[in-house]
Amino acid sequence: MRRAMEIVDKPFFAIPKKSPIAFDLLMTALACGKWEEYYNFKAVRLDIDYIIERCPFLNYIYKYHRFTPGLLRMDPYTYYNWHIDDKRGVSINMLINAHSESHCLFSPDPSLTSEFIELPYRPATYYLFNNQVHHSVYNFGRIRYLFSIEFNETKELLSFSTLFKEVLDEFLIEGKPKDEAQRSRKRK
Ligand SMILES: [Fe+2]
Repeated sequence: MRRAMEIVDKPFFAIPKKSPIAFDLLMTALACGKWEEYYNFKAVRLDIDYIIERCPFLNYIYKYHRFTPGLLRMDPYTYYNWHIDDKRGVSINMLINAHSESHCLFSPDPSLTSEFIELPYRPATYYLFNNQVHHSVYNFGRIRYLFSIEFNETKELLSFSTLFKEVLDEFLIEGKPKDEAQRSRKRK
């Protein structure tokens, strides 16, 4: 059994429900002709109604924490160096392509040499992302598209651990989705 403390020790957490909008978002990214500079990324803002009407998980999050959804683009053979975000305490990210070509890394103390762990992005999967742990992205031979939401609440008001606990209470029992855990309990 995975306990909450073991899960939250990592700077990311995979939401166990698949996203119903990952393919649509990829189509949107591929069709998008106008990207704007945003915190050293190229970005495009998405329509909030489109997102919350189609995705129950994000609809639930939006009820309690208002956010702006968008797509971020990185060109081939580019990297985003080690940093902690200025304002964001937590975000929700989903990689929508290039899963084997780009690498998102976290390190407790990046310097000339140090340790890291990788966020192993899986297809159609949202991740709670701790923006207050040093992280970097290295992208290889393809354009990388990432879905990301930016909460109105800054790091002083909303942290990774706060959002993680809320999501755990709402959706999970002992690390499993509630409906799945309840089904297996009934079978016993
Ligand atoms: Fe960042």
